[in-house]
Formats: sequence, C-alpha cells, structure tokens
Amino acid sequence: MFNFDEVIDRSQTDSTKWRKLRDQYNEPDLLPMWVADMDFKVAEPISNALEKRANHGIFGYVYPHESFYLTFIDWVQKRHGWKIEKDWILVLPGVISGLNLSARVLAKEGENMILQSPVYPPFYRVIQNNHRNVIDNPLVLNDGKYEIDFDDLENKIDSKTKALLFCSPHNPVGRVWKKDELIKLSRICLQHQIIMVSDEIHSDLIYPDNTHIPLASLSHEIAQQTVTLMAPSKTFNIAGLATSVAIIPDAELRKKYQQEMVEMAISSHSTFGTLAFETAYSQGEEWLEELLCYLNKNKKRVAEFLEEELRDVHVIDAEGTYLLWLDFRKLEKSHDQIRQSLIHHGKVALNSGLDFGQQGACFFRMNIACPRSTLEEGLSRIKKAVLYLKEKKKDEK
Ligand SMILES: Cc1ncc(COP(=O)(O)O)c(C=O)c1O
Repeated sequence: MFNFDEVIDRSQTDSTKWRKLRDQYNEPDLLPMWVADMDFKVAEPISNALEKRANHGIFGYVYPHESFYLTFIDWVQKRHGWKIEKDWILVLPGVISGLNLSARVLAKEGENMILQSPVYPPFYRVIQNNHRNVIDNPLVLNDGKYEIDFDDLENKIDSKTKALLFCSPHNPVGRVWKKDELIKLSRICLQHQIIMVSDEIHSDLIYPDNTHIPLASLSHEIAQQTVTLMAPSKTFNIAGLATSVAIIPDAELRKKYQQEMVEMAISSHSTFGTLAFETAYSQGEEWLEELLCYLNKNKKRVAEFLEEELRDVHVIDAEGTYLLWLDFRKLEKSHDQIRQSLIHHGKVALNSGLDFGQQGACFFRMNIACPRSTLEEGLSRIKKAVLYLKEKKKDEK
C-alpha cells in the first residue's frame, strides 16, 4: 500500500509548479493545480536506486546498458501489446525535444505541420519557433466528447503539408483514441505521405474501460510512417530527470533524427534520468496500479463535486491523463474575468484554456494528481471563485 494521501510540502523546492507561480502572480497563498507533474512521492525503488547511485559520488558521461532498452521493450509489450526493437529507440532529454526534432527533420521552413487544438502549448511553439506553419485541425466537441474532424483534416492537407503532431492520449481533453479513429487518421496520413508524430507521454495513465493503442502498433505500414514519443516522466513523476525516447522503426527516418540530434547537441544522457527510467519500468508497476486507482477516485470526486455543488462548471470526462478540462462557459463571463476570479478570489492556479488554442476560451485545465485533501481544497477554491462571479453578476443587474 502506498500513501498517496500524504501531503508533501514542495513550496521550498525549485518546483516550477510553485516557484514560477510566485514569480508570475503577486498573490500569496495560491494553490497550484496547473503544471503537469504529481504531488506524490515516487515509487520507493526509484528513490532507493537514485540514493545508492548518488552515494557513488562520480557522475560522468553515461552510455545506457542493454537492460535500459530491454526493460522498456518489455514494458511496451506487456502494457500496450506492441513489440518494438532496440534499434528503433533513440534516447532524448524530453518529449518536447522529440517534437522539436520532428519539426526540424520532417518539414522545411515555410512548410506545414498539423496539430489538433485545443492542444498542449509546446505543439504550437515547436512549429512556430522553427518557422514552419501551424495548420490547425480543431477537435470538435460532440455531446461532451471531443472527436477528430476527418473531413477538415483532409481539406487542410496540401502539397506543403509534411507532418501531423498527434497527442495520444490527448492533453488537455483526455481522449484515449479508439482503434477506428486511429485507423481513419492514419489512412489519411498514409495516403498523403504525412509523417505522424505520436506523442504518447500519457499512455500509461489510462482509466478503466479504456485502452491505449500505440498508433504505430496498428500495422507495419503505419509504423514506417510514425515517430512515437514515450517517457516515464508523467507515469512515475520523474519529469525533472529528463529522459524520454523516440521510437522510429523506419531506418532512414531514424538516421535523419540521429543526425539532427548530433547537430543540436542533445545526444548525451542524464545519469539519474537513465537510472530512474530503467528502475521505474522494471520495479514501478505495482505503484502505478495503485496510483491509477487513486487518480480514478480523484476524477470521480471532481465530477461528483461539480454535480452537487457547482453546476455552472462542467468537466469533460477524461479517459486518460491526470488533467481535467473544465468548462466554465455556462457562467457567461469572459475568459479573463474567470481567470482573475480563480487567481485573486479563489486563489487557485489552473492552466488557462486559451494557452491551448482559441477553442480553450472559458475552459481551464486542472491537475488532479494530488492528495485527496489538496483536491478538496482546490475544489472549494474553485467554488469560491465561481460564487464571487455569480454574486457580481447579481450586483450588476
Ligand atoms: C502531451 C505532452 N507532451 C510532452 C510533455 C512534456 O514532455 P517533456 O517534459 O518530456 O519534454 C507534456 C507535459 O505535460 C505533455 O503533456
């Protein structure tokens, strides 16, 4: 049994979740429920392995052992039913590095890359920073569920379109894509020779009755046109240890990524990152299973709270990830009014939906990977912010 109820003070560590908040808003006592990391201690085998390694005292350059790869290959086979080979795996400092590499390798300046908004903000940045064009194929919200607009996708592809940055599971809307959706999407991309970059960083965080299917596991043909990005960072709460992988079955494409990695000087690895990566995948499964139960209860609690106490806020049902997409549109207030009220009246920091694209107006993303008591505190702060706005509305009448 792991104690996910334990509240651990992170405010005095250099945690982005806390420190950046203090720098950004001049507002004491803000409760951070934004950045996508968890307020839980890692599985004990991970901290034990890091402590042992720290005691060795020498931290020179690292060349991962065969077992680093084999452990990951076993994990992907066991958890996702996808058989991958060691040669296909490139070790990267982060999934964003993989997205950035993809922009540089797959398209030239002035060429087009597709994303599906609302989506994790770095998807826009890697395209724009490299002077490629963002082509948005917005998801559509049908009966409370986000879906891919395949007609729009086909219409937006032209001879300048080279790649699709696909988020699977999707951050922030929490979709775990179904097989038929993946097949339809890849059929279009194959037909137009568009390389699919499948960001599967959240693939181990799946709620009951949903199954993550790695896009590249669907067929040999799809695998040859797909770059899959995976990492233990979200799953095991080790994002600060900066170790991720790209899985690229096509040898020619892989070579291009390798060359670009050398040019960008991102080929060396972290001593602690590679160790935590291997330890997490080899000894972290039991911890993960308990974490998933805890997160599922947190998710249900949010839905129950909103249903019982805050009917003006609606939560999109997440099929995966510990990020919830909250819909405040019913309040009929501007995005900025809601944001100001959350920060200055509720004193709770959620991610602004507009950072994920225009479709995120009046939406906010909430991180529920925290002890239940923190979750309750966060919910009551959201309620306070909403009640303030509603009172204001009455005053205005
Ligand atoms: C979809 C997605 N991709 C990538 C990242 C970040 O990856 P990394 O920290 O490995 O660069 C995140 C973090 O929240 C994410 O949600």
